[in-house]
Amino acid sequence: MKFMNTENIRNFCIIAHIDHGKSTLADRLLELTSTVEKRRMKEQFLDSMELERERGITIKMQPVRMNYKMQTTNYIINLIDTPGHIDFSYEVSRALKAVEGAILLVDATQGVQAQTISNVEMAKSLGLVIIPVLNKIDLSLARIEESKEEIMELFGGETAKWRFHPQDILEVSAKTGEGVENLLEEIIKKVPSPKFQYLDKPRALVFDFEYSNHQGIILYTRMIDGEIKKGDNLVLSQVKENFIVGEIGIFSPEKKQAASLKAGEIGYIVTNIKKPSIGAVGDSIVSKFNPLIPLSGYEQPKPVVWASIYPESQDDFDDLRRALERLHLSDSSLTFEEESSGAMGRGFRCGFLGMLHLEIITERLKREFNLSLIIASPTINYRIKFKDGSEKFIYSPAHFPGEHLITKIFEPWIEAQIITPPDKINSIMQILYDHESEMKETEQFGEHRVIMKVVMPLRELMRNFFDDLKSATAGYASLNYKPYEMREADVVKMEILVAEESIPAFTKIVSRKRVGHEAEEAVEKLKKNLPRALFVIKIQAKSMGRILASRSLSALKKDVTGYLYGGDRTRKMKLWKKQQKGKKRLKEMGRVNIPHEVFVKMMQR
Ligand code: GTP
Repeated sequence: MKFMNTENIRNFCIIAHIDHGKSTLADRLLELTSTVEKRRMKEQFLDSMELERERGITIKMQPVRMNYKMQTTNYIINLIDTPGHIDFSYEVSRALKAVEGAILLVDATQGVQAQTISNVEMAKSLGLVIIPVLNKIDLSLARIEESKEEIMELFGGETAKWRFHPQDILEVSAKTGEGVENLLEEIIKKVPSPKFQYLDKPRALVFDFEYSNHQGIILYTRMIDGEIKKGDNLVLSQVKENFIVGEIGIFSPEKKQAASLKAGEIGYIVTNIKKPSIGAVGDSIVSKFNPLIPLSGYEQPKPVVWASIYPESQDDFDDLRRALERLHLSDSSLTFEEESSGAMGRGFRCGFLGMLHLEIITERLKREFNLSLIIASPTINYRIKFKDGSEKFIYSPAHFPGEHLITKIFEPWIEAQIITPPDKINSIMQILYDHESEMKETEQFGEHRVIMKVVMPLRELMRNFFDDLKSATAGYASLNYKPYEMREADVVKMEILVAEESIPAFTKIVSRKRVGHEAEEAVEKLKKNLPRALFVIKIQAKSMGRILASRSLSALKKDVTGYLYGGDRTRKMKLWKKQQKGKKRLKEMGRVNIPHEVFVKMMQR
């Protein structure tokens, strides 16, 4: 009989609102456990993607194994760093399912923020042990007592497992390292070691993927039962794909080969499966010959924003498909399906969890896969009731039917929580009004803040609500939201014509009340961004059968007579006439070249 000891294993992740210091705390833990040598250490070490480092945000969860000796025992500690932005909360939910404990990190200068609340809800629903920790105590602005009060209030009325007293809330500075060793020892004491059911039959959860041209699909896995070794015959249950383990190992944080992975451990498995499209996170790995029942897996998140993406050149269509498949493997919340539009050719209708998600994916397609793309105006999902009694969901503005065919349009609403100091309520009320929101209730939260609960159309949330809230409150308010219900919408389709030709990628669905304003804004923005041509370009916005706004982009003046010396007027006139004719021909062809950057700029607000 084999013996397996999980007593010295601890698995946890760090969850927090954006910028509360998760990656910096991970740095200190990596140092303390000598996981990363001093000379290789750099700030936010685990944020390895170029885009993450550039923007200073975590986009992907990142697992790492550390070793730490406490008293006489050597512990294996697996940490998963997670992103903080709400658009990436699916990453957090996946990481949470692979661990037994969560550090809830709260920036002591900011206190509990909206995303903290939803992270806590996720961790509690999985029954995890939560260790609340206040960070940034080195700063003079740290409000330690107040933040502790807020954390206790957040868990108020909970069962003993999640009820905290001030002394249960640890204090650290991820910057100076103060309190971090104590935190690590608390993790060892409080987070339970993993439990397992079977010794000799393997079962593992796939919580993430990577794809390599050379090794195919690489599974990021949390072992639940038994043991897996190189050469084992396994199967991915959900997609029913057999494979032989090519290589197995741990994250140190780089991949490092190991002899095997045992129950409770976190590591990677190389499958050599060269089909990126088949991977599904939440899948289970079991033995091919003696399979256990698969694990329950993950709930698939629902996209909230859609945008059509087309390759600038149709020759790149297959490359775009492959790139989307690859990205989908490491980010299963990205959805895509093929679509074709007369003017743009073949492309994909992609679903995203929010505007930042959309921006990051399109940026990655461009950088990591070198693709030139046309990205249509993002939109949400509308339910349309037609005059003939039928109903249909439509999320492509270009496919929106004419008003004469529609009885009613329904759109998704969201329920949002805003945490703010009370003196910002008036400014928030103004932007809530501008964004067609409805106030539900306001509650006191801690001594110095309130939680406002509101509902609003998702369409309005996407119309820059985050940024408006940030600037109206000087960054003091935080926001968190979830889907609410479908409600009737008063929206219309607005098309943008360039040289009298409708450009489907610019078509938008906008509130009827705002269509005049949106029309002016769109033509002005396009005028600013579109490069001039050799002829005048007319830019118009059209809705409900009328032109609502119009601009002209003046022609580039090319000096066709420049090489002529002296004043031979008749010769010049001849050349000017010829140029005039050429411009007319160009104009008649109606082909205005709209570069990729213009599509991206039009998408951003
Ligand atoms: P996301 O992953 O984008 O959500 O951010 P994060 O939670 O990983 O935060 P990150 O570690 O990137 O830290 C955010 C900022 O806070 C950085 O500028 C850090 O240098 C700073 N910071 C983190 N911890 C501390 C601390 O203890 N003290 C001080 N003074 N600054 C800190």
